[in-house]
Amino acid sequence: MKIIDIYYFTGTGNTYLAAKKIEATLKHNDYTVNINDITKTDPHKINLLNTIGIGFPVVCWNTFPIVKEFIYNLPQTFDTKIFIFTTMGNYSLKAAANFGNILKNKGYSLIGTDEFLMPNNFIAVQKEDENITKREKTYKKIEIFTNKLIKGTLKTDKINFFFKFCFVISNFITNKWKWKLFQKIIKFNIIKNKCAKCHLCIKICPVKNITLKNNNYPIFSSQKCQLCLRCISYCPSHAIKSFLIKKTYRALNKEEMQQWLF
Ligand SMILES: Cc1cc2nc3c(=O)[nH]c(=O)nc-3n(C[C@H](O)[C@H](O)[C@H](O)COP(=O)(O)O)c2cc1C
Repeated sequence: MKIIDIYYFTGTGNTYLAAKKIEATLKHNDYTVNINDITKTDPHKINLLNTIGIGFPVVCWNTFPIVKEFIYNLPQTFDTKIFIFTTMGNYSLKAAANFGNILKNKGYSLIGTDEFLMPNNFIAVQKEDENITKREKTYKKIEIFTNKLIKGTLKTDKINFFFKFCFVISNFITNKWKWKLFQKIIKFNIIKNKCAKCHLCIKICPVKNITLKNNNYPIFSSQKCQLCLRCISYCPSHAIKSFLIKKTYRALNKEEMQQWLF
């Protein structure tokens, strides 16, 4: 039986869409595919007998602390096949291949890595028609990637000393303690006269970082926030603000988001 388990993290939906594209092509070729959200998965309990795919957004040429925690906590194994894909707005400094190396050292057999250019969800958000074109182009690349996965001809990005060195720096920047500094800088706030008290932000926060205040308004703790931008992007009344974020991006419309999260 051909079974593939995909573990993904997504903030605004790009990585989820990439995982779904891979799933669709695999299913079309009679594979059984299980797509799992990293935030709901205990890395110690994953099935090491199946081929594993890991997908995550590129963040500061690395990824979110919660994704790194998942990867670093994956168990030691012998020869479990694994592939890694990232989604990014511009450039990754080969984060996928660098994380692949970490997993190779844990006994995984790295069958391939790739990076998928998707709409940027942070600061340099483009116009919607440009985003659509960018996504459509990448969907074709994802299909080629998946067909290579099926044929067993996937390749891993080559990384030289420069990329390994940059990875050490980006790993430092995105470690949990430095992230607290970014959380303080990017800090989200509620604009009370816009907030409809629908509490969608509380429901969709992947790390349960948003809670309810006595007066029924959401409140952001800065403890667990990954800065994934899901809350600020999907707030229906645009009632969440951060001084650094002027324009937001949503990969999914309201119906698609309902299907995805609820
Ligand atoms: C805090 C933050 C940092 C980011 N850093 C990078 C980066 O270093 N390079 C890049 O190409 N894209 C970067 N991006 C853009 C995202 O990687 C890209 O839009 C990704 O597809 C978002 O995936 P998602 O919708 O699954 O969350 C960053 C996004 C965020 C929120």
